[in-house]
Amino acid sequence: MLGLFRPHKYDVSRLVKTFLSAFIQTSSSQSDEYVRKFISENTEICGGQSLTPEIRLRLFTPSCRFWRERPELWPFDDPYWAIYWPGGQALSRYLLDNPGRCRGMRVLDLGSGCGASAIAAKLCGAAHVVANDTDPVAAIAICMNYELNGLKSPVCVTDNMIGSELKGFDLILLGDMFYDEALATSLHGWLDRCIKIHGTEVLIGDPGRTQFQEHSIRRLLQQQAQFELPESVREENYGLTCSSVWSFCSDL
Ligand SMILES: C[S@@+](CC[C@H](N)C(=O)[O-])C[C@H]1O[C@@H](n2cnc3c(N)ncnc32)[C@H](O)[C@@H]1O
Repeated sequence: MLGLFRPHKYDVSRLVKTFLSAFIQTSSSQSDEYVRKFISENTEICGGQSLTPEIRLRLFTPSCRFWRERPELWPFDDPYWAIYWPGGQALSRYLLDNPGRCRGMRVLDLGSGCGASAIAAKLCGAAHVVANDTDPVAAIAICMNYELNGLKSPVCVTDNMIGSELKGFDLILLGDMFYDEALATSLHGWLDRCIKIHGTEVLIGDPGRTQFQEHSIRRLLQQQAQFELPESVREENYGLTCSSVWSFCSDL
């Protein structure tokens, strides 16, 4: 898995990856069925190792082929959906412990990844949940993870919704979406407008990444909860020990 997230070292690797992607895209096997089969063959069903043992997810583990495989052989975009990120773990734990925060609400899980926070919202009785991720492979992984947890097919949207006129949602969830400064800045402005125009509530899960801690949005957030990360999650996240949930109050 770690190899997949390393920067590409050789141009030839990029060429191989591009060739593989092009081959898969032009073959009829690029159907949802093909991607489903690929995901089930290259992930492991996990539960119990995260902050939310009650949610089962298909994730990368050391026993998966691509954990050590050459990254250029991975035929899709980087599989962020195959990791249950510490920010998403805290956010999902918080919802499961406080179901009243989303019960009966119309919820958007932006940057849903494996879909865990959308699943948590659904399990807590949210009236309507949309899982949004710009990676179309994530959308299929989210469907599979819904099924694993006995839930009906999710509503998945793969458009980039940041900056859009967002109507019809009471609550936006963001698990580990502040990993990049430019993304954090665009989220800040957009979330601010969603709160001011539509009164949308915003909950953010983050393990204290630098791009988050040092961003101007940080002074507008109120901490709702903090969780100690399980040992295995700490090991996979280079020394992060805790993950917190924040509500965004906007600078009214
Ligand atoms: C670090 S992962 C977090 C996933 C999940 N929320 C969690 O905590 O486990 C970030 C996810 O955001 C998605 N993403 C990045 N930019 C996005 C955008 N503009 N709109 C929607 N999803 C986006 C990526 O594809 C990836 O799945």
